[in-house]
Amino acid sequence: MRKQFIAGNWKMNLDTKQAAELARALLDAAGELGDIEIAVAPVATSISAVIEVLRGSKIAVAAQNCYWESAGAFTGELSPEMIREIGCQHVIIGHSERRQFFGETDETVNKKVHAAFRAGLLPIVCVGESLAEREQGKTMEVVSTQLKQSLRDLRDEQVTQLTVAYEPVWAIGTGKTASPDQAQEVHAFLRGQLMETFGPGAAEAVRIQYGGSVKAANAAELLSKADIDGALVGGASLKAEDFLGILREAG
Ligand code: PGA
Repeated sequence: MRKQFIAGNWKMNLDTKQAAELARALLDAAGELGDIEIAVAPVATSISAVIEVLRGSKIAVAAQNCYWESAGAFTGELSPEMIREIGCQHVIIGHSERRQFFGETDETVNKKVHAAFRAGLLPIVCVGESLAEREQGKTMEVVSTQLKQSLRDLRDEQVTQLTVAYEPVWAIGTGKTASPDQAQEVHAFLRGQLMETFGPGAAEAVRIQYGGSVKAANAAELLSKADIDGALVGGASLKAEDFLGILREAG
């Protein structure tokens, strides 16, 4: 049985004080939540403050991105080792906003995924089609290519530890959610692709999160689907009550 894994992606929001306050509010309610895995991904400058609040709790901390080298002349970048050292357990890699605005490709995503494992971080690898791609009937082709290229040359036991986030680009921040059936169709397909490349053990173990306008009102139905093992939540993770609403549906 895969444990549900809900991650809040705070994107470039909340200053350090606000981030620590949100973490505190989540922590205060964490005891009443079910047996699920939870992570939050603050901006890099707030990671330490959030880790301070959440240390020893069941809420893990993720970085929103990393570089693939350990150290060196790469102005503005953070290495996975540095992110691990301050106490993050996870790192989001290849979010569609990184692909769209910052030139991420499947090749750079793949380098970052390898680097994350080297540093002892568990990657959350994002894939998803644009609206135009969906309308042209290319959804499966697009996500299959992204998945295979992003996970290239990983060992089976590494794959079992990572999380895939299926995030249709047209559903992110738009209020338009994929229907539970639409999402399940892609999730089942992705699991099939994992099976082909990495075998049944890995395919069964990998959590596939859905992301794109998830909120408390639609979480239960999405999470009830066989291959939807959690959510990557943007907007609705920025307020404690909204995020807790989703966490309660998952538990
Ligand atoms: P959203 O963002 O929940 O605001 O749609 C999801 C994401 O980008 O991870």
